[in-house]
Amino acid sequence: MENTLSLIKPDGVRRNLIGEVIRRFEQNGLKVTAMEMLWLSKKEAEGFYIIHKDRPFYDSLTSFMSSGPIVALVLRGENAISKTRELMGATNPAEAVKGTIRRDLAESIEANVVHGSDSKGSAIFEIPYFFSSIEIYA
Ligand code: CDP
Ligand code: MG
Repeated sequence: MENTLSLIKPDGVRRNLIGEVIRRFEQNGLKVTAMEMLWLSKKEAEGFYIIHKDRPFYDSLTSFMSSGPIVALVLRGENAISKTRELMGATNPAEAVKGTIRRDLAESIEANVVHGSDSKGSAIFEIPYFFSSIEIYA
């Protein structure tokens, strides 16, 4: 069993896609074990995406991520990290496989509805960014 962090990004919340995204996760065997709606400050978004600090899209991405409320989720299941990434699809919705969240729902490479940890290492950084251990139900 593995835990991963997913975020429904501000575009997903704005476009009433919270239920649709969570439905896809739940129907594919992932269990929601923590959930919170919150509005990140620019600084908090920068801290979350610190790994991308030297990328050209960092400033725009962190402005977008602090442009409205998001929903943070911990998802638990067998191979939860890769399963979540598979359900999300490629970063660029135009390149994502049909049936994935990003291909079906996303509007652009930046406003791509969801985030999911990309490795065990990133999950270990990202889950405690939002949740303490007593907020996660095993
Ligand atoms: O989210 P994912 O792990 O698929 O992609 P990433 O490479 O870790 O990039 C993080 C986020 O930055 C993406 O989900 C996009 O929202 C944004 N991004 C962007 O705006 N332009 C790019 N060329 C690449 C990523
Ligand atoms: Mg990533």
